[in-house]
Amino acid sequence: MKRFAGKAVLITGAASGIGLATATRLAQEGADVALADINADGAQQAAAQIVATQGVKAVGMAFDATDAQACAALPGAALAALGGLDVVVNSAGILDWARTHECDPAKFDLVLKVNLYAVFHVSRAALPHLLKVGGNIVNISSSAALAGVPYAAAYCASKAGVLGMTRAMAVEYADQGVRVNAICPGTVETPLLRKSTVPAWADMKKVMSLATKTGKPSTPEEIGAAVAYLASADACNVTGIALSVDGGQTAG
Ligand SMILES: NC(=O)c1ccc[n+]([C@@H]2O[C@H](COP(=O)([O-])OP(=O)(O)OC[C@H]3O[C@@H](n4cnc5c(N)ncnc54)[C@H](O)[C@@H]3O)[C@@H](O)[C@H]2O)c1
Repeated sequence: MKRFAGKAVLITGAASGIGLATATRLAQEGADVALADINADGAQQAAAQIVATQGVKAVGMAFDATDAQACAALPGAALAALGGLDVVVNSAGILDWARTHECDPAKFDLVLKVNLYAVFHVSRAALPHLLKVGGNIVNISSSAALAGVPYAAAYCASKAGVLGMTRAMAVEYADQGVRVNAICPGTVETPLLRKSTVPAWADMKKVMSLATKTGKPSTPEEIGAAVAYLASADACNVTGIALSVDGGQTAG
């Protein structure tokens, strides 16, 4: 079923992992997609692959989430490239492990800039257009917004911030036809996790208290499928939710 035929979607962090799987899934369902990432080559290669395999419009865009001006310009650039903008998926994100009392304040700032502030700046710039077309936003938060992850105070703060902003915006725009939702993935097999493997000094008992109850991580494609649901008309009366896709990690 082509739920996104005739729709245009901007995805940040789309060169890899969840963002890439989401762009691919939405394109399979007929969407034209703009793939934005600091890894411009990766975004362009992924876009070329999507054009070749899905026959939709796809463009790779260079984008640094730490740059507020670049964030503000991104939705307009995606709109110009695709000829429309119906959905924004904020997926760009980073994770930095540190004992909180040793956490470098500059690293804390960086995590907040990429994971939280960019979601604000991109959404702020996209909203005037989404209001015209009755579009929606899907933010990739994390189970770390719902349960503390040791040695990841900045990450938890950023992802909880994303949830708060999602709910605020959902309530603010619900009566104007714009929906705003979040997904809270638990452990997902992506380069983010492989790059940020838990440091040797960490107390693994504390970290493992967050293990999935199903005994398996999610795949990026499973998160992409959840994004596709929330972004589609199937979820036309769903707004302000935090959809956990975490193998029961935060269930109890
Ligand atoms: N992998 C997990 O277990 C997991 C769990 C919960 C939430 N998440 C969230 O999912 C989202 C996607 O993560 P992923 O696991 O796919 O990781 P990933 O590393 O595979 O993908 C993240 C993408 O973001 C891009 N990015 C990083 N910094 C950027 C910047 N400054 N500007 C623009 N792009 C930038 C990277 O280049 C990369 O392509 C993140 O927000 C992450 O916090 C991941």
